[in-house]
Amino acid sequence: MRATGLTLLGLVVALAQVPHGTLGRTPIPVSNGTSLFTIPDNYVIEFTGAPGTSAGSSASRDFYSTMATQNIPFTIRKNYTRLLNGAYIGVQDKYYDAVYNIGTALSLWSSRTSSVNDSPIPPATKALPPRPFLAHEYTGINKVRNSTSWTGAGVKVGILDTGLDYTHPAFGNCFNTTNCRVRYGYDFVGDAYNGNNIPVPDRDPMDSCNGHGTHVAGILAGNDGVFQGVAPNATLGIYRILGCSGLVESSVIIEAVETAYNDGMHIINLSIANVGGWNQWAESSVIDKAIAKGIYVVGSAGNNGAEGLWALGAPAVSPNTIAVGSMEVPRMYSWALDVTVSGQTYRVRRTDQQPTSIPLDITNAPFRRGLDAAGNDYACQPITANVKGAIVLIQRGFCDFDTKATNVIKAGGLAAVMYNSDGSEMQTPEYYAALTLPTVGIWQRDGQKFVTLLAGSQSATATMTQAIDIVDSDVPYTPSAYSSWGPNIEAVHKPDVMAPGTNIYSTLPKSRGSYGLVSGTSMAAPYVAGVVALVLQTNITASNLTVLSNVLHTATPYKHSSGMYYSLAQQGTGLINAYNALTANIAFRIRYKLICGYTDVTNMAYPITLFYTNRATTNLVYNFQVAPSISVSGFGVDKRPANPPLTDTTTAVVTMSTTSSFTAPGTNGSNDITIKRGKMADSSLLIYSGYIQAYPAPGYSGQNYSFPYLGYGYSSSSVTIFDPSYDMMPCMFRSLDRIPLPAKSNTTFTFTGNDYPVVAFRLQHPVRQIQIKVAYAETPTAIHSSVTQNQYAYRSRNFDGTSQGQFFEFKWDGMGYYQKSPSTIFMHPSRSYVLIFTFRTVYMSSKAITYTTPVIHIPKTIKS
Ligand SMILES: *[C@@H]1O[C@H](CO)[C@@H](O)[C@H](O)[C@H]1NC(C)=O
Ligand SMILES: *[C@@H]1O[C@H](CO)[C@@H](O)[C@H](O)[C@H]1NC(C)=O
Ligand SMILES: *[C@@H]1O[C@H](CO)[C@@H](O)[C@H](O)[C@H]1NC(C)=O
Ligand SMILES: *[C@@H]1O[C@H](CO)[C@@H](O)[C@H](O)[C@H]1NC(C)=O
Ligand SMILES: *[C@@H]1O[C@H](CO)[C@@H](O)[C@H](O)[C@H]1NC(C)=O
Ligand SMILES: *[C@@H]1O[C@H](CO)[C@@H](O)[C@H](O)[C@H]1NC(C)=O
Ligand SMILES: *[C@@H]1O[C@H](CO)[C@@H](O)[C@H](O)[C@H]1NC(C)=O
Ligand SMILES: *[C@@H]1O[C@H](CO)[C@@H](O)[C@H](O)[C@H]1NC(C)=O
Ligand SMILES: *[C@@H]1O[C@H](CO)[C@@H](O)[C@H](O)[C@H]1NC(C)=O
Ligand SMILES: *[C@@H]1O[C@H](CO)[C@@H](O)[C@H](O)[C@H]1NC(C)=O
Ligand SMILES: *[C@@H]1O[C@H](CO)[C@@H](O)[C@H](O)[C@H]1NC(C)=O
Repeated sequence: MRATGLTLLGLVVALAQVPHGTLGRTPIPVSNGTSLFTIPDNYVIEFTGAPGTSAGSSASRDFYSTMATQNIPFTIRKNYTRLLNGAYIGVQDKYYDAVYNIGTALSLWSSRTSSVNDSPIPPATKALPPRPFLAHEYTGINKVRNSTSWTGAGVKVGILDTGLDYTHPAFGNCFNTTNCRVRYGYDFVGDAYNGNNIPVPDRDPMDSCNGHGTHVAGILAGNDGVFQGVAPNATLGIYRILGCSGLVESSVIIEAVETAYNDGMHIINLSIANVGGWNQWAESSVIDKAIAKGIYVVGSAGNNGAEGLWALGAPAVSPNTIAVGSMEVPRMYSWALDVTVSGQTYRVRRTDQQPTSIPLDITNAPFRRGLDAAGNDYACQPITANVKGAIVLIQRGFCDFDTKATNVIKAGGLAAVMYNSDGSEMQTPEYYAALTLPTVGIWQRDGQKFVTLLAGSQSATATMTQAIDIVDSDVPYTPSAYSSWGPNIEAVHKPDVMAPGTNIYSTLPKSRGSYGLVSGTSMAAPYVAGVVALVLQTNITASNLTVLSNVLHTATPYKHSSGMYYSLAQQGTGLINAYNALTANIAFRIRYKLICGYTDVTNMAYPITLFYTNRATTNLVYNFQVAPSISVSGFGVDKRPANPPLTDTTTAVVTMSTTSSFTAPGTNGSNDITIKRGKMADSSLLIYSGYIQAYPAPGYSGQNYSFPYLGYGYSSSSVTIFDPSYDMMPCMFRSLDRIPLPAKSNTTFTFTGNDYPVVAFRLQHPVRQIQIKVAYAETPTAIHSSVTQNQYAYRSRNFDGTSQGQFFEFKWDGMGYYQKSPSTIFMHPSRSYVLIFTFRTVYMSSKAITYTTPVIHIPKTIKS
């Protein structure tokens, strides 16, 4: 199957402020930022034939000689020969179709830049001590340590991240020597730049400017005695793909995955998560090739929980990777705020203070709300309450942090505690100005609790010091708010499983304090990679279906306040349990993930078969039951995106061929399951999910298993592709003035300077294909030429009800390809034209959506 690239003539994702529902002469804002770019004139190409075979090398030779024959200038930047029979080439975008049409070119992808959102961990002069890994109490790891000897010894885990401080005592202070824990590795991004500002790779994968990689490697495999990661004896390969710029190109990821494969890694953990990604992108495609060779790839779901459904990161979206989300557990390490009211002390989690202020050490200071004359606690106006010498409770919102701090300082406050104004993760408040007021953040629900308590008391005190304490979670066993939701765009259920990700205390480079707290699904993914390493140590040749089944299906799903389980799109199979995974005695093989993907039929019914083998030495009897999750919808009744997703207790109808089964040692059994959407109305746009649970019958021992199912209760064609909140789009405007042109207009463009037509649209549904064709204005159905074909566009971002949003922009330069000679690009002669955009979701074949632009008049032939 051929896959085409992402862009040809510059389809960009724009970050912009678009007023809701504004029509008429409002300029379309200029694009000024994006998190995801394709790199012009740079492509990853895959040739026909397998890597390392003679057919493969003759395909690449043919390709290059055809390029030469056609006079297409190119440079080879990298050759790929291990997993991908391909190369990273420089060739001008305008030759895209010509290159793609060469017979031995199998796939052609634009190279993309991915970024890490996590900001670097600041340098520290003081080292924090190692502490036991608290989350191990909730994931079965403590039980594994107490009662087994599995530690991951002999299993090789490749970490693609910001590098590692291998001089840290938890990693043995060595690299690439015999018996060294960090046995393999390479720095693909380097620490130095050459004259062209291109980083120069080197052999040393030291984590020299971030700290992220050292933190996650500690979770996976750190070991200094007191602090022990999940698989403390695993062998590590450290592939540094994120350097000081925080950016990485597809070409580098591909090279690193190939190297990890060549070094014999059993497991690869990847540190990039591009929201809303498609599995068809170049790097995802290479990762799938690694998986097909038997490597386990673990990726984080991403920290985009606030974006609602379908926000899972690539490459975790791949059906074959293990996508990991974060689940809250009962206790965590944290900086704490202790508040004493009427003799009772309440301890809540808080952020660290801002780095510029003096170290915190405040004991039993008065604790007061920072109220202004109007009774508000935002501290945007002068504080009139008496807060002299007090720790002052204020709320986030309505003005900048500097204003708030200045008002607290003017009123004589000692320190500020700022509570969040929404349910999201609180960040450390930081100041632009040199303000020395110590300030910490707390979560909204804790702030509201204190507001209530302070209303009934005049004598509250608070204590906060620099110490890290243990605090209780008030939302234990719920998916973390920041953890990205699935399913993947092609309806494959994701995330796969959850692990603790909040306030994880793990290793940091020695220059950054040796140990510290970091949160995110980045912390949950290595936890699961460690569990896979433990399971692999028990049998390194075990089939991947057995390993994956043991790891994923012995996890524990948790329930929503409705009494039903959380959606599979949020919690996968639930919180990982390493002990259960290691001791699972039934291997389940399920035929359903593929069937589940791409299903989008009204009144659908699809079968799952659970096949199982009794791997124990005794007879087993299991009872099966259906445990539905709450159904969710990504759209409101107005069919606009709903964040957070709406919930509904209507469930699918699930039937099983058996509710109880007996297996003798070494024998197999099966259970046929049928799923129908039942009473779900198409218009409710629900995604249903749930589990088939298998419990040992009374009197029998064994693990509990949960097998997930998920499906759409509606046809995706009932959701419009364009976001109805932005009703001026799609539209066309002049790049000169950015004012939407009326549908019936006829505009002459000179195609010089900045005078080009630009088409803008905002997707609320990911699309698999966007085709752009040119037609004569008088006969708009007769296609004259094609412009480009973009594939795999994600929906536009930030559906948060505010005016911040992203949209796509396409600037047309008047060029096109002849329909009959698709490799020849030409400038259209003087005449009137329209552009026809065709959008297809994954489910649509013929039922595509089209948008036709107003008339574009080309006044005279402009040379290309
Ligand atoms: C885009 O521009 C707006 C307004 O100038 C600014 O507030 C915003 O931070 C910019 N975004 C990026 C990503 O640069
Ligand atoms: C890639 O391989 C080609 C031969 O197929 C060779 O000519 C070229 O020098 C190689 N380029 C790099 C960057 O290794
Ligand atoms: C493991 O052993 C330690 C020390 O004996 C004990 O405190 C802890 O509770 C045990 N944990 C589990 C999960 O069995
Ligand atoms: C590791 O050491 C071996 C020889 O001991 C050497 O061949 C190899 O290049 C080294 N690898 C790295 C990444 O330094
Ligand atoms: C693993 O690590 C432990 C200490 O954490 C050590 O005692 C043991 O010898 C190591 N090796 C193996 C193969 O388990
Ligand atoms: C399991 O590994 C085989 C190759 O050994 C591969 O073809 C298959 O895709 C893998 N399956 C999964 C689910 O990873
Ligand atoms: C594992 O992968 C996740 C994302 O996929 C990343 O955030 C985390 O840093 C990685 N961990 C390691 C140890 O590389
Ligand atoms: C390990 O896995 C292989 C492949 O699934 C299987 O043939 C073998 O019996 C297993 N070994 C043990 C000790 O379980
Ligand atoms: C059980 O199923 C496995 C996998 O299909 C097969 O290899 C094995 O022969 C079966 N065992 C029996 C006893 O039927
Ligand atoms: C299986 O689930 C039951 C009921 O939730 C629970 O009591 C039991 O401890 C679980 N068994 C295992 C091995 O986790
Ligand atoms: C558009 O305007 C140009 C210039 O005024 C005119 O020559 C052309 O015929 C018009 N085209 C259509 C389709 O009306």
